[in-house]
Amino acid sequence: MIRPMTPEDLDQVMEIEKRSYTSGWARATYEKSLASPSCRYLVEEEENRICGYAGIYLAPEEAELFTIACDPKYRRKGIASRLMDALLHILKDENIRAFFLEVRSSNEPAKSLYKKYGFTQTGIRKQYYRDPEEDALLMTLEL
Ligand SMILES: CC(C)(COP(=O)(O)OP(=O)(O)OC[C@H]1O[C@@H](n2cnc3c(N)ncnc32)[C@H](O)[C@@H]1OP(=O)(O)O)[C@@H](O)C(=O)NCCC(=O)NCCS
Repeated sequence: MIRPMTPEDLDQVMEIEKRSYTSGWARATYEKSLASPSCRYLVEEEENRICGYAGIYLAPEEAELFTIACDPKYRRKGIASRLMDALLHILKDENIRAFFLEVRSSNEPAKSLYKKYGFTQTGIRKQYYRDPEEDALLMTLEL
């Protein structure tokens, strides 16, 4: 079941975050972002267990994907795809025209997911990431 993320989900979300990103967000960043009216966070929950989550930032006509991650135990089961579908519904309701994201240049699973949804590479930020240092690819989906 996909539903909005709540602060009570953050224990489980932070566990997945640690296993999914080498330099993920701090819990306090999630708490602040969850409270922002410009952000929407979703979780996929099965039998009281959070299996994946995603978050976006909404601006007039534009949105940015902040995060999408799935518990390593539940990957390749369509969870990220279900989260993306739900996010795209939100974007449609909000009349968003362009959806942006940044991804590590070596992150093949994520790049493949985004390409499947029609994102194309529209830029590159050299040495944008740390731990390890790596370029960010900017990807865009016109809606
Ligand atoms: C990227 C990620 C969210 C995908 O989650 P997932 O639930 O396993 O993805 P899905 O099962 O919905 O797969 C959807 C598509 O993603 C791509 N994909 C997912 N895992 C992949 C892998 N290991 N290798 C290649 N492509 C992959 C495929 O295109 C797949 O479609 P297909 O199954 O028809 O081939 C997950 O690997 C993850 O949490 N990674 C760590 C966090 C991260 O890097 N997030 C992105 C930050 S920019």
